[in-house]
Amino acid sequence: MLLDYRYLLNGKGTALDVACGQGQNTVYLASLGFEVIGIDGSLVGLRHCQRALELSGLKAGLIAADLEQFPLPHNHFDVVLVMRFLDRALIPSLKETLKPDGLLIYATYNKNVLHRRPTLNTCFVLELGELVDLFADFKLIATNDKRGLAQETTYLIARRVHGDRASR
Ligand SMILES: C[S@@+](CC[C@H](N)C(=O)[O-])C[C@H]1O[C@@H](n2cnc3c(N)ncnc32)[C@H](O)[C@@H]1O
Repeated sequence: MLLDYRYLLNGKGTALDVACGQGQNTVYLASLGFEVIGIDGSLVGLRHCQRALELSGLKAGLIAADLEQFPLPHNHFDVVLVMRFLDRALIPSLKETLKPDGLLIYATYNKNVLHRRPTLNTCFVLELGELVDLFADFKLIATNDKRGLAQETTYLIARRVHGDRASR
């Protein structure tokens, strides 16, 4: 999915990889030229990410933190990327940490995944149509988020609108 929207990623400015895990996307964003910050609660994941960066001769700032406790700066990032992570309480701060006109790329599991993984905690999966609602105050670029979607992953790409208050 990310590669399909490569043309939106000009490699200029700052990018945040939210819950970056082992950092595959952190490395990718850094390879495009972004100044990347990756945040994750898992030191194991971050060590893996650091190794991957070193092997690629790239740099990124890696922060070990619980995102629920970590205050993100306002109006700071040109790109915010969220992959396979959902914490609805964080949505307002993810919005506010983007600069106006900044690009959000969000892709995570929706409830269709429960057919394959029925024991998954439903708090961590989206309802169909939910991601579009959560970012209704953003300017939509692309999404597959609709009721009746057959895929397990919902994605949404959108820009923060100038002058919004990122209130939702
Ligand atoms: C399924 S992994 C996805 C990792 C990465 N985004 C990817 O797509 O490869 C979810 C990640 O969220 C991190 N995570 C979950 N809750 C977190 C929290 N409250 N604060 C920081 N990281 C968290 C986990 O440590 C894990 O690395």
